[in-house]
Amino acid sequence: MNQDYIKPDNWSIIEEGFDAERVKSSESLFSIGNGAMGQRANFEETYTGETFQGSYIAGIYYPDKTKVGWWKNGYPEYFAKVLNAPNWIGIDIEINGETFDLDKCTSVKNFRRELNMKEGWYNRSFEATLQNGTDVSINVRRFLSLNLDEAGFIDYKITPLNKDAKIVYKPYIDAGVSNLDANWEEKFWEPLEIKHNENEAFVTARTFKTHFNVTTFMQNSIFSNGKNLNLTTEKVEKSNDKIQFEYAINVAQNELSSIQKIGGYTVSLNHDNTLAAAENVIKEALSRGYDALLNEQIEAWAKIWEMSDITIDGDVEAQQGIRFNIFQLNQTYLGKDSRLNIGPKGFTGEKYGGSTYWDTEAYCIPFYMATKDQQVARNLLTYRYNQLDKAIENAGKLGFTNGAALYPMVTMNGEECHNEWEITFEEIHRNGAIAFAIFNYFRFTGDYSYIPEKGLEVLIAIARFWHQRATYSTHKNQFMILGVTGPNEYENNVNNNFYTNYLAKWCIDYAVEQIEKVKSEYASDYDRIMSKVNLDDNEISKWKKVSDSMYLPFSEEHDVYLQQDGFLDKDLIKVSDLDKSQRPINQKWSWDRILRSPYIKQADVLQGFYFFEDHFSTEQLEKHFDFYEPFTVHESSLSPCVHSIQAAVLGKMDMAYTFYLRTSRLDLDDYNKEVEEGCHITSMAGTWMSIVEGFGGMRVKDDALHFTPRIPEQWEAYSFKINFRNQILKVCVEANETKFSLEGGNELQVFVNGVAITVEPNSLVTV
Ligand code: BGC
Repeated sequence: MNQDYIKPDNWSIIEEGFDAERVKSSESLFSIGNGAMGQRANFEETYTGETFQGSYIAGIYYPDKTKVGWWKNGYPEYFAKVLNAPNWIGIDIEINGETFDLDKCTSVKNFRRELNMKEGWYNRSFEATLQNGTDVSINVRRFLSLNLDEAGFIDYKITPLNKDAKIVYKPYIDAGVSNLDANWEEKFWEPLEIKHNENEAFVTARTFKTHFNVTTFMQNSIFSNGKNLNLTTEKVEKSNDKIQFEYAINVAQNELSSIQKIGGYTVSLNHDNTLAAAENVIKEALSRGYDALLNEQIEAWAKIWEMSDITIDGDVEAQQGIRFNIFQLNQTYLGKDSRLNIGPKGFTGEKYGGSTYWDTEAYCIPFYMATKDQQVARNLLTYRYNQLDKAIENAGKLGFTNGAALYPMVTMNGEECHNEWEITFEEIHRNGAIAFAIFNYFRFTGDYSYIPEKGLEVLIAIARFWHQRATYSTHKNQFMILGVTGPNEYENNVNNNFYTNYLAKWCIDYAVEQIEKVKSEYASDYDRIMSKVNLDDNEISKWKKVSDSMYLPFSEEHDVYLQQDGFLDKDLIKVSDLDKSQRPINQKWSWDRILRSPYIKQADVLQGFYFFEDHFSTEQLEKHFDFYEPFTVHESSLSPCVHSIQAAVLGKMDMAYTFYLRTSRLDLDDYNKEVEEGCHITSMAGTWMSIVEGFGGMRVKDDALHFTPRIPEQWEAYSFKINFRNQILKVCVEANETKFSLEGGNELQVFVNGVAITVEPNSLVTV
């Protein structure tokens, strides 16, 4: 464990003690979000110590012009930036004439942060002594409403402890913000208008280039001993992008004073008139009131937990880990809006730009499919369907024709917005994950309608891409896929990455199967699609030639598929023989040294074995796991979860458990020493998979749920729920038995270790 500052707790993330060195890490870990917006846990008051300011709005981004020395044809025009949005949380505070700043206080005691995941709020409390000798006790609560998702609330309480105090609250909103990753401190927001009345203020600003209009707003109320003083601002300070109010109050020693601030955003994605919409949000928030809204928040989170909670008995750290992951996923994406997606950092940092990676299809869809209404997963698929034209355009820019699609590695709106050539041009396996998700959605939900309605067009366009991307080798008399980057980004421009080739072959076969099925069972959809895509049997038989003769590199000596043609030529020194001081290699080694090394960033061949487990025997899985894992450094957050699942399948429970802790506490324990940049949101869905699919052994085969329950010896019991075809199955695993219960109208047959059992609604079956 790299850090031990997060206190073990079943439902909360807790930090005790103030350490300026940890501020940026805690800002990530204590982030809050509600699917529509989110923010790092920055302090409301002035803070002159090191901090990483971040507040983000779903769907709002900025296209930063790609700048490289040598332009290569096909480069995307821009790299999308997740935009740091205007700040509405700010409240400068003066206490007896001194600006309150934790970095300048002479002492800070009993500092405590709590992120209450059960109820969806974040709290910070402490006692501090200012340089002027005033001791104060401060308690701040903040939440972003799930029900009123354009609004957030702050309740900032101050009690002077050793003398009377004049407290001046100076709440503000500020659109003069920039990104940490901005080039040359460039600003991305253009202020348009500032409006205010006695306690409310509105700053409307527009993003350059993308022209999203956002009204950031605030409303303030000042309280003394819990009573609203109905004060109006004494002063208004305004620049072109910032507005600040001022409320002064005299507070006697040991008396409680507070400011309640409502803030948030209304955006042009949702409103024609963002200013009028902001006024309405404030009205609505005031009419419901802070306490009622906090209660609603608790209820709304209770509903989310009701469906998605996983309990673990006997291991608080494991329990805290999984809840943190489930909580963050729900803070990031709730599936309400099919224009949105799940960014690798969610609302916790800027890194990665763009919101949509293959992470969504490969890792997140299973979680959303099983813990929410199936419409949510369908929305995620539809997101890609809606971007199909852009994916065809994207492939066109690289020279592909005839409706072949290459989905972007990173996107906001369907256009590629990642600009490293070895990823944009070469990490093409992402196309396969998008096809796989369609298969996976049908396998899990049984909802075939998606394929004739939308999915088949995507499958056809992807099959066309693979057909054109393959090269026929007369030397080997087989098809090759040359010059790619597999999931292992620690080698680029390799030939015949097993995962990519296997997936490409599968994509073609699956597309052909679905074309046949739609042709025979959905004739009118078939005609509509065929007239649109202009596909004939001749073209399909050309695809088939590629898939039937796809080359898969294999080593007779090791009896394993090779990660790529040249893998065995590397200096195969295992990770365990590497000096610890060299890790993580991505922070210690030059890129060139990494590329030549045998070290694998994340599951690559094993990612293929994960997707297509049924295509291989357990012995084959074991051989490949034992061959590749020793070279794997797991420096992508997406790595430990897949390994945890496979270790569980192979009965390597100690390893499965270690990988589980690593995936679930990756951020809480900062394994990769980078949590200050933000949390790893998409891999959190992988943590969920490592319990449900790894330890629980859940699979869907032939329209039925199968389980192979296993339990780490560190745990007494664990439980999870699955929404399977609109019935909720609860599974509780203990050392010697597994219990199933069902909410739903119809009995459900499930298989446990291959044996069929029937679960009746509202009754318990113990196996
Ligand atoms: C991983 C990719 C992943 C991306 C975003 C990278 O470090 O190698 O597979 O898509 O992070 O999570």
